[in-house]
Amino acid sequence: MNHARPGRLAVGIVGAGRVGAVLGSALRQVGHEVVAASGGSPESLERIDTMLTGVPVRDMVDVARAADLVLLTVPDDAIGQVAAWIADQGGFRAGQIVLHTSGRHGVEVLRPALQAGAIPLAIHPAMTFSGTSLDLSRLEGAPFAVTAPAPVLPIGQALVVEIGGEPVLIPEAARGAYHAALSHASNHLVTLVVQAERVLAQARVDDGARLLGPLTRAALDSALTSGAQALTGPVSRGDAGTVAGHLAALAGEPDHLETLRSYRALARSTTLLAREQGRIDDAEAATLTRLLREHPGLTGATGATGAATAASPSASTAVVHTRAELRAVRATLTDEVAVVMTMGALHEGHLSLVRAARTAARHVVVTIFVNPTQFGDAGDLAAYPRTLEADLAALASLGPEAPDVVFAPSAEEMYPGGTSDRAATVVAGPVAHRYEGASRPGHFDGVLTVVAKLLHLTAPDVAVFGQKDAQQLALVRGMVAALDMPLWVLAAPVARESDGLAMSSRNARLSSVGRDSALALSRSVAAAERIARAGGTVADVLRAARAEVADADGVALDYADLVDPGTFLPLDGDGDDPAATPGVREATYVVAAVVDGVRLIDTTTVVLGARPR
Ligand code: PAF
Repeated sequence: MNHARPGRLAVGIVGAGRVGAVLGSALRQVGHEVVAASGGSPESLERIDTMLTGVPVRDMVDVARAADLVLLTVPDDAIGQVAAWIADQGGFRAGQIVLHTSGRHGVEVLRPALQAGAIPLAIHPAMTFSGTSLDLSRLEGAPFAVTAPAPVLPIGQALVVEIGGEPVLIPEAARGAYHAALSHASNHLVTLVVQAERVLAQARVDDGARLLGPLTRAALDSALTSGAQALTGPVSRGDAGTVAGHLAALAGEPDHLETLRSYRALARSTTLLAREQGRIDDAEAATLTRLLREHPGLTGATGATGAATAASPSASTAVVHTRAELRAVRATLTDEVAVVMTMGALHEGHLSLVRAARTAARHVVVTIFVNPTQFGDAGDLAAYPRTLEADLAALASLGPEAPDVVFAPSAEEMYPGGTSDRAATVVAGPVAHRYEGASRPGHFDGVLTVVAKLLHLTAPDVAVFGQKDAQQLALVRGMVAALDMPLWVLAAPVARESDGLAMSSRNARLSSVGRDSALALSRSVAAAERIARAGGTVADVLRAARAEVADADGVALDYADLVDPGTFLPLDGDGDDPAATPGVREATYVVAAVVDGVRLIDTTTVVLGARPR
């Protein structure tokens, strides 16, 4: 099979919908010949007439037989059936290119064509089409998702480049996520704008589009360049009064019920994002979440019920010690459940995880278990503080934010056969051997094993882990993805003392001089954030962040690195060439040092390559 650039091709279009007509027309413009097209509806025939003038209309099988390049531009759900039908009728042949333009499917749906020896390509223009010649100019520079078996990828890329597009390779397995992301951003943006226009029109504000245009375009532009840092508005300021006013305004008008629902859902997501960004604190996030759930106006307009009318979380916490008790109490939690796992000795940092859990789900389960399998040293395990009474008191101090359930099992309850005689354990991937794992062999295997067990026992919708233990967080996320665990891992921001020191039970072991020295770590984190915000490169960020800890009095630095958030591989700080930074990307800054004989860690997430702020 010759896989070089295919030269002048006879193009057949099966289904002259908007995309088929536009792509056919674009291929014609660059010298290919459209030899036949099929189209059942009057609109398709009209499009063939106007955009593919002179192209004969044939049935699907004849179109395919006549073509070197077959565009299967039929609805997504029909592609498989149409491909099977044409193959059955002998319409495909070896060496022929069969291409569909669905976003959702990869090439698997073209198996009947592949079996006939054809070259399957999935090429999706990430662009909207009106089905008129105006669309041709939109192809110039538009990204096209290309999925194909590796040997024929260059053919797909060459076709895209020929019609002026930019090929972006999307693996077969990523196709669903790719299309969900594009639809969420583009289609739902239209829904949002239309809803906003209708609210304005109902309030007799004329020309809503003109009013919304500049702000909406600016917000989109800045979200695309700066990500979540672009958040503005009342939720990101923790302004619950204004949000309550919005809910009341929308709830007062029955026509806005659906808009009210989207407002609530998106304001809730925005609250989580604003909290993740450190723009609002736990208390503000909790207030907003409660408001969005419970605002009385939500039911006022239409008498709608459901989640909107949910009662406040119970202030009384069930404390259970056995798996059987946990199972029984878990069965009573019928709404979304978030779990926070701890080893006890709770401090304000843990309480902030519980508050974050409250913002994510209606019910919260806290586990308190000093897990023997993550300790390398028996002495450390024996010395680890066990303070259940004080922990329960700390959780109770949260009042309405207190958890619904505390699960505090014994080691025998969690590992009935003992810890060394287990039939199976979780073995963490290579991330576990870097940084914190380097000096603690087996530690992360123990962590992941107990996390997996606790996830099975508590069956949460959301599991909240502190960003502070960034490597643990990455490993838990990796395990949840690798083992297809059906839950969302929410990262809660690092809780800090008023002077910036990251909260940790170990801080209590620092002398007052050591406590001052320890501030070098949070200064280093702040420097990383400052330089990244100013548009610094990896090397700039590392230079500034390391300068704060490298020679600080009383601080023995272990590491200070920028790493990939998923793999924990260090980003290369050599050279200052901004072009070496591949676009805008998130990175995790990690720092560890020993102060007063106490090992301390700190971390932050930075965005590299964004426009300086
Ligand atoms: O982060 C911790 O306290 C522990 O590693 C965890 C997740 C509770 C597992 O024992």
